[in-house]
Amino acid sequence: MTTPSSGRGAWGSRLGFVLAAAGSAIGLGNVWRFPTMAGKSGGAAFVLIYLLCVLFIGLPVLLAELTVGRRTQKNPVGAFERLAPETGWRWVGALGVLTGVVILSYYSVVAGWTIGYIVETLSGTFNNIQSPDAVTRAFTGLIGNPVVALALHALFMALTMFVVLGGVQGGIERWTKILMPVLFLILILLVIRSVTLDGAEKGLSFYLKPDFSQVTGTTFLNAMGQAFFSLSLGMGAMITYGSYLSRRDDLVSSAVWVSLADTLIAVLAGFAIFPALFTIPGLEPTEGAGLVFLVLPNIFDKIPGGLFFGAGFFLLLAIAALTSSISLLEVVVAYFIDEKGWTRRRAVIVLGSVAFLLGVPSALGNGAVAALSRLPVVNQSFLDFMDMLFGNFSLTIGALLLSLFVGWRWGTGRALEEIRLSNPETWFGRLWALLIRFLCPLAIGAILVNLILETI
Ligand code: PHE
Repeated sequence: MTTPSSGRGAWGSRLGFVLAAAGSAIGLGNVWRFPTMAGKSGGAAFVLIYLLCVLFIGLPVLLAELTVGRRTQKNPVGAFERLAPETGWRWVGALGVLTGVVILSYYSVVAGWTIGYIVETLSGTFNNIQSPDAVTRAFTGLIGNPVVALALHALFMALTMFVVLGGVQGGIERWTKILMPVLFLILILLVIRSVTLDGAEKGLSFYLKPDFSQVTGTTFLNAMGQAFFSLSLGMGAMITYGSYLSRRDDLVSSAVWVSLADTLIAVLAGFAIFPALFTIPGLEPTEGAGLVFLVLPNIFDKIPGGLFFGAGFFLLLAIAALTSSISLLEVVVAYFIDEKGWTRRRAVIVLGSVAFLLGVPSALGNGAVAALSRLPVVNQSFLDFMDMLFGNFSLTIGALLLSLFVGWRWGTGRALEEIRLSNPETWFGRLWALLIRFLCPLAIGAILVNLILETI
C-alpha cells in the first residue's frame, strides 16, 4: 500500500500502478498514430528506428520521469520547483502542462471517431463491403459531419472528465485492470486474419524490410516523437503518475513492463494494418490520420462474427484511449490542485472545457470547414498540424530538457539514490545514468539539429 505525502491520492497497489501507467501509454498512440507514422515514413526503416528510440531513449526517460515523480510527489511544475527552487526549470513543467491540454484537445477528437465506429459497425455499415470506397465514404461522412464530429468529441471529453473527477484510485485504476488484456486478444485475432489474407506479403515486406534510401531527418523526428507520444513522455504525465507511488514500489521493473507492453501493442497494430492495407485497392500507406479507420473495417468484414469483434474492438480502443486521455487531463488537473489550490472538481470542469474548446477546430478540420482541413503554408489539417507541433516537437523538447535536468542539474547521483530505495541492484542504474546524461540529450539534440538543417 502506498503512503502519499498529502491527501492528493495514491495507487491502491503496485499492479494497479503498472496497469494505470500502461493504460496511459497504450492508446490511440499505438493503434492509430503508430501505423499512421510508419505508413507516412516509409515502413520498416521507421519501425527499426522507432524500436531503437524506445529502448535507448524512451525507456531511460520513462525511468527518469517516474523517479522525479516519486521523489517529489508533485505535478510537473511543482516537481521542478521542488528540485530546483526558483529557477527557470519550472517552465519545463509548464510547457508540459500546456502540451497536455493541447494533445488532449485533438486526442479526444480521434477518440470520438472510434466511438462513432462502434455505432457504425453495430448498425451494419461495414457488413458485406462491396468496394473499399464504401468504407471511405462512411469514414469521411462521419468525420466531415460537423454535428457528429463535435458531439463525439464532446462525449469523449465528458467521459474523460467523469473518470478524472473520481480521483486516482476510484477512477483511473479500476478501468484498466480487465480491459487491456481483452483488447490484446482481439488485436491478435486481427493480426492472424490480416497476415493470412491473399497478397499479405506485400504489406509484410513494407513493414519488415527496411529501405533506408527513404530515411530523412523527418523520419528520425517522427520515430522519436512517436516513441515519446506512445510512452506518454515529455510532458510530465509519468512524473504525475510516479508521484502517486510510494518509496517501496519498484521503479525499474515498472518502467520495463510499461515499455514492453506498449511496444508490443504498437508492433501488433502494424501487423494488423499493413498486410491488409496492401490488399485494398486505392489505399496507400501514406494515407495519414484516417489510415486505420479505412483499413480495419475491411479486415473485420472477412472474419466470421466480424460485426461482434469489430464493435468490440472499437469499444476497447475507445476505452484504451480513455485510460490515456485521463492521464493527459490528470497532469493539468494535478497542477491546478497542487499549485493553485483549486478543488479537483473545479480543475476538472474548467480544464476539460478548455480542452474541449481547443479541440473544436481539430474536430471541424476534416471536411466540415475547408479552411481548417487544409491550413495554408503548412498544407495540413488543423489536427495534423497540432499533432506535429505538440505530439512531436513539444514532447521531444520536453524530453530533451528533462534528460538534461535529471542528468546534469538535479544529477544522476541523487536520482540513483531515489531509485535505489526500491531497486538496490546497480548495474542497470549505472547504465541508465550514462544514457540519461549523454546518449539521450545528444541523440535528441542531434535529431533536432539535423531537422533544422534539412528544412533551411
Ligand atoms: N501514450 C498515449 C497513447 O499512446 C498518449 C499520451 C501522450 C498520453 C502523452 C499521455 C501523455 O495513446
